[in-house]
Amino acid sequence: MTDKYAVIGNPIAHSKSPQIHKMFAEQTNQDISYEAILAPLDGFIETVERLRKEKYKGCSVTVPFKFEAFNLVRALQDAQPMQGVCNQLATKAGAANTLTFHQNFVNGDNTDGIGLVRDIKQNFQQLLKGKHILLMGAGGAASGVLQSLLHEHPKKLTIANRTLEKADKLHQLHAHLSQAELSTCTYSDLNGSFDIIINATSVGLSDIEIPLPSTIFAPNALAYDMMYGCETPFIKFSREHGAQVADGLGMLVEQAAEAFFIWRGIRPNTTQVIAALQIPW
Ligand code: ATR
Repeated sequence: MTDKYAVIGNPIAHSKSPQIHKMFAEQTNQDISYEAILAPLDGFIETVERLRKEKYKGCSVTVPFKFEAFNLVRALQDAQPMQGVCNQLATKAGAANTLTFHQNFVNGDNTDGIGLVRDIKQNFQQLLKGKHILLMGAGGAASGVLQSLLHEHPKKLTIANRTLEKADKLHQLHAHLSQAELSTCTYSDLNGSFDIIINATSVGLSDIEIPLPSTIFAPNALAYDMMYGCETPFIKFSREHGAQVADGLGMLVEQAAEAFFIWRGIRPNTTQVIAALQIPW
């Protein structure tokens, strides 16, 4: 029987996840379906309940429901008969992007950080160990990847954010996890150069350009924008200053591959899927 999966978000029409999971399933001969589901902004929990009743095996969760997904699983922690368990990455981020429905429990995982790290290491062939990393942003996207970045043992990781207090809060939550020199600042206080600069703000496709000093790029720096599909002002600025640039398509595919692995126990080949979805920009 075909196992059913879905991605829940709002908006969701633009989602590439159904295409990605279809390619993974074909590649690995898995009999699954995967659809995009638009949940009303106040209807996430009801949507998950419906999927569970209809015997779906799991779902991906995207904007704006990742925090709610985490809270939903957390609320089930000590419940009976249905229990909820969040893995460490989801717990630290306070957000879940992958739910797995078992007979008597629900698992909440966060695969975003693993996706980002795999893309940087495997697809862009950049080591994170010993490097100086700049993480721009301190919202949901940044907190979802910070722990995975720290697991790679960078030498230094700076969180830069418009609102310093939010960066400081992330710092406090993660400081004990790593030997890296972890620091925070606003964009105007940035100094020094970085090997890997990651844009995890929501500025993305807008025309807003975060003012960055041109001196932030170390030789052979990689500038990574979590947005994908077009040249953002951050990518343009980074390219103009000699950095290698990357958009977030690889991260999207890699985080999906990790979810597929959690659900199906098989790792799909991501290289061909990324190549198939790449849009020249
Ligand atoms: P997401 O889940 O996409 O991370 P979020 O949690 O609302 O969304 O976080 C948005 C991030 O983008 C924050 O780091 C935000 O900075 P503030 O914490 O100062 O709000 C950042 N951001 C949004 N608009 C910005 C702008 N115009 N300039 C700089 N940073 C911006």
